Amino acid sequence: MKRALGVCYYPEQWDEAVWESDATRMADLGLTWVRIGEFAWSRMEPQPGHYDWTWLDRAIEILGSKGLKVVLGTPTATPPRWMISKHPDMLAVDDKGQTRGFGSRRHYDFSHPGYRGECAKIVTELAMRYGKNPHVAAWQTDNEYACHKTVLSYSAAARAGFQTWLAQKYQSVDALNRAWGNVFWSMEYSGFEEVGLPNLTVTEANPAHVMAFRRFASDEVVSFNKLQVDILRRHSAAPIAHNYMGQVTDFDHFAVGADLDIASWDAYPIGFLSDRGFATPEHKRHFLRQGDPDFQAFHHDLYRAVGRGRWWIMEQQPGPVNWAPWNPDPLPGMARLWAWEAFAHGAEAVCYFRWRQAPFAQEAMHAGLLRPDSEAAPAHDEVAEVARELAAMPEVQQTQAQVALVFDYASDWAWTTQPQGRDFSYFRLAFDMYRGLRRLGLDVDILPPDTGDLSAYKLVLAPGVATMSDNLLKALAGFEGTSLIGPRANSKTAEFAIPVPLPPNLPGLDAKVMRVESFPPDVTVPLTQGGAFKHWREKLDGVATETTQDGFPAVIKGGKLHYLCGWPDDTAADRILAGLCAAEGLATQIMPEGLRRRRAGDVTFLINYNAEPVTHNGVTVQGCDVNWSGK
Ligand code: GAL
Repeated sequence: MKRALGVCYYPEQWDEAVWESDATRMADLGLTWVRIGEFAWSRMEPQPGHYDWTWLDRAIEILGSKGLKVVLGTPTATPPRWMISKHPDMLAVDDKGQTRGFGSRRHYDFSHPGYRGECAKIVTELAMRYGKNPHVAAWQTDNEYACHKTVLSYSAAARAGFQTWLAQKYQSVDALNRAWGNVFWSMEYSGFEEVGLPNLTVTEANPAHVMAFRRFASDEVVSFNKLQVDILRRHSAAPIAHNYMGQVTDFDHFAVGADLDIASWDAYPIGFLSDRGFATPEHKRHFLRQGDPDFQAFHHDLYRAVGRGRWWIMEQQPGPVNWAPWNPDPLPGMARLWAWEAFAHGAEAVCYFRWRQAPFAQEAMHAGLLRPDSEAAPAHDEVAEVARELAAMPEVQQTQAQVALVFDYASDWAWTTQPQGRDFSYFRLAFDMYRGLRRLGLDVDILPPDTGDLSAYKLVLAPGVATMSDNLLKALAGFEGTSLIGPRANSKTAEFAIPVPLPPNLPGLDAKVMRVESFPPDVTVPLTQGGAFKHWREKLDGVATETTQDGFPAVIKGGKLHYLCGWPDDTAADRILAGLCAAEGLATQIMPEGLRRRRAGDVTFLINYNAEPVTHNGVTVQGCDVNWSGK
């Protein structure tokens, strides 16, 4: 498939007089895709049951007539004001019991049956009207599920939905009481109708209760999305995507992705580094106007897995954003670099957010490809350059990675529910291990937690997977390559209890976790061969291949399965991972800081996130530039 560029556009925000010239300029720039519609419900259905499609008909016709392909968004992230009068209880409630108000977006509760009915209606109208439109070549459901912390709602609708979900899962309230250990602190229930939501308790709620609620809330996102997908499919053969986010784990993206054709995500590298990263102040300064060199790649690889091979960037940062604590201007070259990095990781399309900067409302300070006065903003010409390069380049192929990392959303819920140490973050642990692999110049595939076949890989990592699935355990038992499991792996039952026999209970590994400990960031446990454990370590009784300086196993081995007994710092991770790769005959090389490598077919991409040139193996890559070789 030919890789393509696109842009997000809001015809409803502009005078119709500019639509035609906007469309012409988009096509001249070399764009293929234009995403529209996802926030336009108040213009599609200005009054309950009264639809106005004429403006959207014209917008789609104008864009299509210039050769642009439309991604049409369902508008369900922005219910109009009349909807709240009609369904006052459709608003979500936060964990303090406060109802969230109208006046921005995502003001809805996934569990509210009335709102679901309204969504089904608008999606049906949209799908019937545009399902066969030749210009509508893809769909997007809603917009960024979970954005603005909207997955968990403590409303009456959520409570009713949760009770039904529990009754289906446990069948009897006695079974629920046993599963959760409710005899502890006299928390036993005599009927499902007594079970509340796990907020506003005096001290922490039972972690099993919290985990059940997290699973329920994730299932609600899955069924909310599927409701829309089923309708769209009845009327249209075009592929369906959702735009996911960076470092957002509030629902199981693999489960939502199973119902979709394409995974897409919204990449704001500089906003993420400022807002989400765990980086040191020095790292943040160094990459202030470029973004973290591994953060985007991690999500590219993650969403390639969520999309079962098909993935896009639906929104790409074009300049300063408005929502991070600080919003620096990208260095020249970065709007191009980010797109090429995505193509190197297999993106089918990269769409920039947004076409023209809006002078009004919440995002007036957010850059676009055009300034508010319609003149080109700096990223505009970089996009033109990518378009020329794409046209000149033969198709970017994909190659099978030899290394894989298992990523599990439920483990993030588990370790957020029970961190047992302030710094324990599942996402951060998984990302740390991913960074370690990338520092060694390796390409990485990310695998869902129920993966049953590892045979394509030489090395598989599964850090922190709280409850390992039967599929994964079976796959590990038959795996001929090397694996590195842990820390904190397989250490909870499905009901969030400590398993007996004690963890990790991994195939071929004779070891038990006797004790775990966490410690503050200024304390580490040094390893005898260099580096240290930080934040977390476990004391196991197995046979060690290396130890901590205080005399406990650091890595334990059973056949080619290795258990990692703590959270390694970069020095320890580099050494341990390089050793495992060497044993598998996997070539590694230490990449210079900020320079990353990605192989795609016969092409090797070198991506330089540094502002300065870097020379590696005799090849010099300019600052904020991408080189490719081997065509
Ligand atoms: C995304 C969102 C867009 C826009 C953008 C600004 O999270 O999907 O609608 O708000 O951020 O960076």
